Amino acid sequence: MVTAVAQRLASQRKEIDDTLATFTLSTTQLQEVKAKMRVELERGLKKDTHPTASVKMLPTYVYRTPDGTERGKYLALDLGGTNFRVLVVKIRTGMRNSVRMYNKIYAIPLEIMQGTGEELFDHIVQCISDFLDYMGMKNTRLPLGFTFSFPCNQTGIDKGDLVSWTKGFKATDCEGYDVVDMLREAIKRRNEFDLDIVAIVNDTVGTMMTCAYEDPKCQIGLIAGTGSNVCYMEEMKNIELVEGDEGQMCVNTEWGGFGENDNIEDIRTRYDREVDGGSLNPGKQRFEKMTSGMYLGEIVRQILIDLTKRGLLFRGRITERLKTKGIFETKFLSQIESDRLALLQVRSILQSLGLDSTCDDSIIVKEVCGAVSRRAAQLCGAGMAAIVDKIRENRGLDHLEITVGVDGTLYKLHPHFSTILKDTVRELAPNCKVDFILSEDGSGKGAALITAVIDKYLYAMRFSDETLRDIMARFRREMENGLGGDTNPTATVKMLPTFVRSIPDGSEKGDFIALDLGGSNFRILRVKVSHEKKQTVQMESQIYETPEDIIHGSGSRLFDHVAECLGDFMEKQKIKDKKLPVGFTFSFPCAHSKLDEAVLLTWTKRFKASGVEGMDVVKLLNKAIKKRGDYDADIMAVVNDTVGTMMTCGFDDQRCEVGIIIGTGTNACYMEELRHIDMVEGDEGRMCINTEWGAFGDDGTLEDIRTEFDREIDRGSLNPGKQLFEKMVSGMYMGELVRLILVKMAKEGLLFEGRITPELLTKGKFETKHVSAIEKSKEGLTKAKEILTRLGVEPSEDDCIAVQHVCAIVSFRSANLIAATLGAILTRLKDNKNSPRLRTTVGIDGSLYKMHPQYSRRLHKTVRRLVPESDVRFLLSESGSGKGAAMVTAWASRES
Ligand code: G6P
Ligand code: G6P
Ligand code: BGC
Ligand code: BGC
Repeated sequence: MVTAVAQRLASQRKEIDDTLATFTLSTTQLQEVKAKMRVELERGLKKDTHPTASVKMLPTYVYRTPDGTERGKYLALDLGGTNFRVLVVKIRTGMRNSVRMYNKIYAIPLEIMQGTGEELFDHIVQCISDFLDYMGMKNTRLPLGFTFSFPCNQTGIDKGDLVSWTKGFKATDCEGYDVVDMLREAIKRRNEFDLDIVAIVNDTVGTMMTCAYEDPKCQIGLIAGTGSNVCYMEEMKNIELVEGDEGQMCVNTEWGGFGENDNIEDIRTRYDREVDGGSLNPGKQRFEKMTSGMYLGEIVRQILIDLTKRGLLFRGRITERLKTKGIFETKFLSQIESDRLALLQVRSILQSLGLDSTCDDSIIVKEVCGAVSRRAAQLCGAGMAAIVDKIRENRGLDHLEITVGVDGTLYKLHPHFSTILKDTVRELAPNCKVDFILSEDGSGKGAALITAVIDKYLYAMRFSDETLRDIMARFRREMENGLGGDTNPTATVKMLPTFVRSIPDGSEKGDFIALDLGGSNFRILRVKVSHEKKQTVQMESQIYETPEDIIHGSGSRLFDHVAECLGDFMEKQKIKDKKLPVGFTFSFPCAHSKLDEAVLLTWTKRFKASGVEGMDVVKLLNKAIKKRGDYDADIMAVVNDTVGTMMTCGFDDQRCEVGIIIGTGTNACYMEELRHIDMVEGDEGRMCINTEWGAFGDDGTLEDIRTEFDREIDRGSLNPGKQLFEKMVSGMYMGELVRLILVKMAKEGLLFEGRITPELLTKGKFETKHVSAIEKSKEGLTKAKEILTRLGVEPSEDDCIAVQHVCAIVSFRSANLIAATLGAILTRLKDNKNSPRLRTTVGIDGSLYKMHPQYSRRLHKTVRRLVPESDVRFLLSESGSGKGAAMVTAWASRES
């Protein structure tokens, strides 16, 4: 009896497994899919094979990523995904300029989606009309951009014949006709208002363009939503349907049609055929029907019906609900497959769909969903692998790094789809490193349109990799000038010898004091390094104020203040009677002739105390200490904060040979071969060079990339004409840069309805920490609202998006520029070592790098792109540069 039940269960199990096995694709099968897709891509591009190709490879007449929009009033439609939206961008000019955006979702009833073409376009125009009424804009002729998510044969940016409807649309008398014309005619029929239709854009293209600003490497757009499709930048010379061989054009692949020539029948199952047969377009979009949100639930439903018929599910009872088309929407699939759901919850979802299930049923349904969605993600991955390999070969590269901009409910909502997709691409296209970024659709096209406007506006702040490589080459020349004996006197990047000759080797020990002056905090530390068991470091520190009147007053007052704080610290530590060795991190450019002699060349950042430039800061501090007479100190070493950072990190990682600061100011040091340093005697070994890269551009080398805002920042600074690179990138200036841009945009009516408040006009009211807060991915927009409200401008949601975008452009520029200068240092190190690949560690510190949510990722990515022949570890200095200063002091005291 027991064995009979067990046997029956086992055989049922086997039947289910066999059914689902038809959805499992081996790597070889996926590779075949990739190869076949590749063949179809080529066939679509070639004139003679195009007419019969299943993947249509449609030209889009988009030659590059966003080139902005016109001023004036701008209308956008977004048709073909889950939602139909109408949007307006209103840019008024006049005395009080202003911009505003509105976005509204309209329903398209089924009978209209599948009625006549005239009805459909009349409905669209009616929605526009309702919208314009609401906006009071009926009497203006508006330029309009139309996101139309269906295959169109385009002959220009504003001309597109609908090839065929897909997904849930099937309006009559549209296929073969120009969509723009149909819209125009419907507008004419209504005879209420006039519009200027300037562009028709597929959703993949819109997505690629929106994402391209985040990442200039984004040259592919993917939609995994109701439908499935990809576009990418193809070489003009390969697009035989369009005249001309120069440059690139975006191609809308329409890969959903893949398989229409029967070439993937081997992997289609009977369920796929059933879904196809019951669809609006049998035989068409076969790949889409295996991969997109509109159909996955249907495949699942077909399998469930079959299993039920075979008595393996739902106690063999086929209910009306189960027979209902479309009950499994993507969102239910996604919920059922969520790992966080207990079976009981899966069961209750099924129940809410009207499917009365047992616990065993729930397990099986979940397995079915998993098999279907897994195959979908793998197929998309195989298709994507074909695309990236094609792009790689187009460019004659062994290795390609590229980014895909993605949108669509399936990709966004499903718990495993994106991971499986990415894994598959990695496996099938091993020579390509493919990143995926999500089109932030939170506010939909509104963001994209504003993006276009601002992108055009801040175009000068975005650099191509080519420009970055050029800047990298310029900085390398500056480094050479600074190192050369003849060229050093006139060099802008000073390349200062530091007299630090190696990184910590673990033998350092003792009890030290470290002063740390020049960043956002003035800190005094006690650092004890001991050797019991393992080397250990103990630190205690205190932060002291440095009031503005002191850092802008006389030098003697400043050093009296430092001496006073040091006295206070020693008192608290009860070491006033001792004469501990002191290391002084002094974060300004100093000329050294030995470790404990440091002549300040010039103040930077917030400091401007008189009578210090040209003086040895060790002498000034000693004098101040002597004057007090209540304690003694032995200042053994002065180090720049970059050097302190490199040493701190070098303590943990012996490979560290670069130190960089991206904080209030910015700078870098690295270990240079002594034989290349003309200013210091000797040819053996290495010495750390403090580059003082903040001054890059002070001789005009960066004029071509500086903007009006950079010039304004410089004019209002404490040191006009100096530290021009620093002023484009570091934390002290970033918030101010954003503020100046916002003021200008508001004045031109692009923001805040043209409102400009006294707060917005006040220097320093917008800080770098605000930039960091606004760029947070989750709460960024809420933060933007708070911060802008405090500035009194009453921001709209779209203002907040725009401001977030401005912040991103400014901080992105910073990370890109630093990547270029750091790239120059890294290639120099590599050349010095004469090795084909550089393996090294960069120690980093600074508030901007640490606090900004995206900065480090962007920097690392760009560096890796600019210096591909390197393996760089970025190591954050956890304990500031005081610890490093103590290490240097340890040697100094050993040697003296
Ligand atoms: C974006 C676009 C839509 C597009 C959709 C795809 O949001 O604005 O036009 O069709 O993504 O997603 P869906 O899952 O809605 O089909
Ligand atoms: C480290 C050092 C400071 C240095 C700072 C830069 O923590 O100890 O001396 O100046 O980094 O960061 P900040 O963002 O404070 O300028
Ligand atoms: C359409 C494409 C569209 C895709 C995603 C497909 O059905 O043919 O043009 O890009 O769906 O929305
Ligand atoms: C200074 C550098 C310092 C950097 C980071 C710059 O302004 O000139 O010496 O390393 O800021 O703090």
